[in-house]
Amino acid sequence: MEYTINCLSILSALYFHLLLLTADGRMSHQREPMFCKVSSDNRVDLLNQHLTEVPRNLPRSTQYLDLSHNNITHLHDQDLMGLPDLCVLKITHNGLQDISPSVFQGNPKVQILNISYNALRIIPELNLPNLIILDISENLYGSYTLRKSYKDLLSLSYLALGSPQARSVHLADFAPLHEISLRKLQLGGGVELDHYEAGSLAQLPVIQDLTLKMTFCEHPEAFQSILQDLDQTKTESLTLIKFVPDLCNVSSDITDKLRNMTYLGNLTFQDTWFNSSVLAKVVCNIIQSPVKALSFLNITFAEDTDGGIKIHNIPGYNKSGNVEFLTFDTIHHYQYSFPVISINATFFSHLIILKFSGTGMSIIPCNLISALPSLQILDLSDNLLNELGFWWPVCTNSHVFPALRHLYLRNNKFENLQFTSNHTHGMKNLTVLDLSANSFKLIGKTSWPSHLSDLSLSDNTLGDAVFNYLSPYLQRVNLSHTDITALTQEALSQLPSLKSLFLSSNNINHLPPDLSAPQLEELHIDQNNINTLKENSFKGLSGLKRFKAGKNPFACTCDMYWFVTSFNKSLLIDWPSDYICSSPDEMAGMALEKYHPGWVSCTPWIQAVISQLMTLTVVSVLGFTFYIFDGAWYLRMLWVWLRVKKRGHKGADRLKNAIFKYHAFISYSQKDSEWVDNQLVPNLEAAQFSLCIHERDFVPGDWIIDNIINCVERSYKTLFVLSHNFVQSEWCNYELFFAQHRAMSIQQDSLVFILLEPIPTDSLPKKFLKLRTLLRQQTYLEWHKDERKQQVFWVSLRSMLKTADKNMVLERVAKEMTDMCPLITDTDWF
Ligand SMILES: *[C@@H]1O[C@H](CO)[C@@H](O)[C@H](O)[C@H]1NC(C)=O
Ligand SMILES: *[C@@H]1O[C@H](CO)[C@@H](O)[C@H](O)[C@H]1NC(C)=O
Ligand SMILES: *[C@@H]1O[C@H](CO)[C@@H](O)[C@H](O)[C@H]1NC(C)=O
Ligand SMILES: *[C@@H]1O[C@H](CO)[C@@H](O)[C@H](O)[C@H]1NC(C)=O
Ligand SMILES: *[C@@H]1O[C@H](CO)[C@@H](O)[C@H](O)[C@H]1NC(C)=O
Ligand SMILES: *[C@@H]1O[C@H](CO)[C@@H](O)[C@H](O)[C@H]1NC(C)=O
Ligand SMILES: *[C@@H]1O[C@H](CO)[C@@H](O)[C@H](O)[C@H]1NC(C)=O
Ligand SMILES: *[C@@H]1O[C@H](CO)[C@@H](O)[C@H](O)[C@H]1NC(C)=O
Ligand SMILES: *[C@@H]1O[C@H](CO)[C@@H](O)[C@H](O)[C@H]1NC(C)=O
Ligand SMILES: *[C@@H]1O[C@H](CO)[C@@H](O)[C@H](O)[C@H]1NC(C)=O
Ligand SMILES: *[C@@H]1O[C@H](CO)[C@@H](O)[C@H](O)[C@H]1NC(C)=O
Ligand SMILES: *[C@@H]1O[C@H](CO)[C@@H](O)[C@H](O)[C@H]1NC(C)=O
Repeated sequence: MEYTINCLSILSALYFHLLLLTADGRMSHQREPMFCKVSSDNRVDLLNQHLTEVPRNLPRSTQYLDLSHNNITHLHDQDLMGLPDLCVLKITHNGLQDISPSVFQGNPKVQILNISYNALRIIPELNLPNLIILDISENLYGSYTLRKSYKDLLSLSYLALGSPQARSVHLADFAPLHEISLRKLQLGGGVELDHYEAGSLAQLPVIQDLTLKMTFCEHPEAFQSILQDLDQTKTESLTLIKFVPDLCNVSSDITDKLRNMTYLGNLTFQDTWFNSSVLAKVVCNIIQSPVKALSFLNITFAEDTDGGIKIHNIPGYNKSGNVEFLTFDTIHHYQYSFPVISINATFFSHLIILKFSGTGMSIIPCNLISALPSLQILDLSDNLLNELGFWWPVCTNSHVFPALRHLYLRNNKFENLQFTSNHTHGMKNLTVLDLSANSFKLIGKTSWPSHLSDLSLSDNTLGDAVFNYLSPYLQRVNLSHTDITALTQEALSQLPSLKSLFLSSNNINHLPPDLSAPQLEELHIDQNNINTLKENSFKGLSGLKRFKAGKNPFACTCDMYWFVTSFNKSLLIDWPSDYICSSPDEMAGMALEKYHPGWVSCTPWIQAVISQLMTLTVVSVLGFTFYIFDGAWYLRMLWVWLRVKKRGHKGADRLKNAIFKYHAFISYSQKDSEWVDNQLVPNLEAAQFSLCIHERDFVPGDWIIDNIINCVERSYKTLFVLSHNFVQSEWCNYELFFAQHRAMSIQQDSLVFILLEPIPTDSLPKKFLKLRTLLRQQTYLEWHKDERKQQVFWVSLRSMLKTADKNMVLERVAKEMTDMCPLITDTDWF
């Protein structure tokens, strides 16, 4: 039997092989490197700053310093002083030429040093006892000779060396690493290795993972020497970058030593040119080697042999191969023709995972691949396959993919969903099928096998009808980006086993209220057109464990109130970052998390009831407050305030033309003298008011009315302390005074009345017409027994007496008004 692979050329999918440096557990039988924990506060990133030297003012606590992409050409002694906690230092792409041997004296904690992509002409001296990762690749040194002091880098786990100028490796080069157990070594500057002194690497006790970034075109024996050493370093993984350069004429079999390796389990070829003649030999050797994981990444394939690659039987080898994981990712075809590969399937009979992507393949070697007895996972993403290329008619599809469980056909040219579904019945163990990013159309009826439980049709133009083309056995369905506009109960009812449904990036605008799928555990409807998420939509989704709905244009209105306040956020895998308000306009861009409407404002019937209750309550509270706290009293005081404010102006004019000796003349009844002496006078005099009091300041012997007139004339205001006593005993004097007063034309607003006790205007004798009128028209202050109100009283009184100047009156009034406000609110009116 002979099997044939025909591969159409072209295609180049980007492939990034990232060598991530983590101290993960896979290599754990070695001393586990302990990395310092860098807090983000102690991280200093100074990339692309046009720096020509290390800045001096770096914080002393700096742990992580990245100075890459600058113009720092020298590291001087003092440059890194004062950074005792420095742990990670990156100075790549700087044109660094020289590092002073003592520059790191003050940085004993450095664990990671990356000085790759510079212009170092010698490998620098590094006294860093705790160094774990050292990258000095891509520099310009002429040899790989390591400094003697490197023997002290006892924690070193990763070392990268490489320079286009260094083209040979000598025994002495790695002698200092004699006792260092490297986990990973990268060696080479991407150029040919001219000479390798046997045993150079074998001096190291162990190298788990070796990357050789060098070509072996003219000196294949160097590679063979290295392979021999790797069996002594117990190397498990070997990556060969630029193994053979473009258009190199490799005549001998450079990989035959692979057959004799004992430890090598993983082998990767990357960025390499392969002729079919060379590749055939390489594959032949690998089949006989212990390699289990074989990868070809970004290779260029050229056919220089008639009939392509043929490996039918290997003389002297009648076993099956060891390869379990085989990856081809991105193959460039040099000839743009159909390469032919025919390999005896027995050699890959242990293959479990096969990835063949980015190869331009349009027809699979069906009888080869489908006959692989242990193949469980087949990834043919990013090719040019369609249903005919995959189920090639001349292939006998009787025993296809006996063990296949996962089939990935993402980003190919499939169109016919009916045909595809019909043919999956043949793959008896298939559970996962990825048909995303193809060109499927919904024509005819589909029939899916019952063992298929996970189907992805994402990135196809399908529409709402797609739900009629699924299978009731499906547990996990990915319909992201398939032009679905609605999720209905009718659709869900066709999927009774469904546990996970992914509908991201569609055009669904709401979740209907009648959904009923209690078995559903996971639902993604992110990046749709949903404005609101309402409670009743989730009633029938009681089993939901993970929900994703971010990046929808949410309307932050009361409709979202329930979701924001009551939805169990632990179900959300993208909360809160992806939930943003889109409308109304004033909230656009705000995080939904920050939207806090009141419960009341978002509950209409409560609102109605509340507003009624509120009105009632306010009215009663107001009434009650007035009753309890003498609201009327406060209102009157407020009125007084307003009047005072208004008059400040007028008073000022009057002041301009007059000289007063006193701020106020106080007139009171002898019977109220206790209050006046103990309260009024001390209080006002403490506030720097000068007062004229008749006991004290009247001239003895003068007639009382003259005295009054005298005092009134020389006082800016006249203050009457009104009480029943005063009205009855003294008022007649003032009737007389007022009779004269008209002549003196004293303005009425110079009068201040204090009501020491309530005197209902009507209770006044009719003869006190003047007093009645005055009390009706005039503002007066009421004294109160409550201490708080007394404070208000004093403030009011003082400001009524303020006479210094207009501005001061207004200013003080304003100030005292604000001082008083807390006083008023303290009383809890509303
Ligand atoms: C370094 O300096 C050279 C000229 O001196 C300039 O062209 C280049 O842009 C600089 N590079 C950086 C990263 O500042
Ligand atoms: C060192 O820096 C270069 C350039 O950024 C990067 O490519 C390389 O992976 C880094 N080396 C390590 C060991 O991280
Ligand atoms: C490659 O090398 C072989 C033998 O060394 C020689 O016969 C052949 O002509 C060379 N091919 C090219 C294209 O140089
Ligand atoms: C591959 O074949 C081409 C001719 O098709 C030849 O020029 C080249 O030297 C060969 N390369 C190797 C690596 O043998
Ligand atoms: C492999 O090892 C065997 C015995 O140790 C030896 O005979 C054979 O030549 C070796 N093969 C290669 C390719 O080195
Ligand atoms: C070897 O390859 C397998 C499969 O790709 C991977 O799981 C394993 O970690 C690799 N081992 C090493 C040492 O790189
Ligand atoms: C692929 O390999 C070629 C050399 O064979 C190299 O020039 C190119 O940069 C590589 N592409 C990627 C994406 O690594
Ligand atoms: C395939 O390989 C097996 C074992 O190496 C051998 O028995 C069988 O004959 C080979 N088949 C073909 C067609 O060469
Ligand atoms: C494989 O080869 C060995 C000798 O090298 C022989 O004893 C054995 O019978 C062969 N097995 C098969 C299946 O041909
Ligand atoms: C298919 O799957 C079943 C159950 O998982 C298993 O018993 C059977 O061995 C599988 N078939 C193959 C050929 O691996
Ligand atoms: C799928 O199978 C059904 C019957 O099982 C058949 O009628 C239909 O034509 C098949 N469709 C395709 C595209 O093969
Ligand atoms: C669904 O498919 C899309 C596109 O193929 C993919 O990005 C996404 O990760 C898948 N979703 C899940 C949950 O697997």
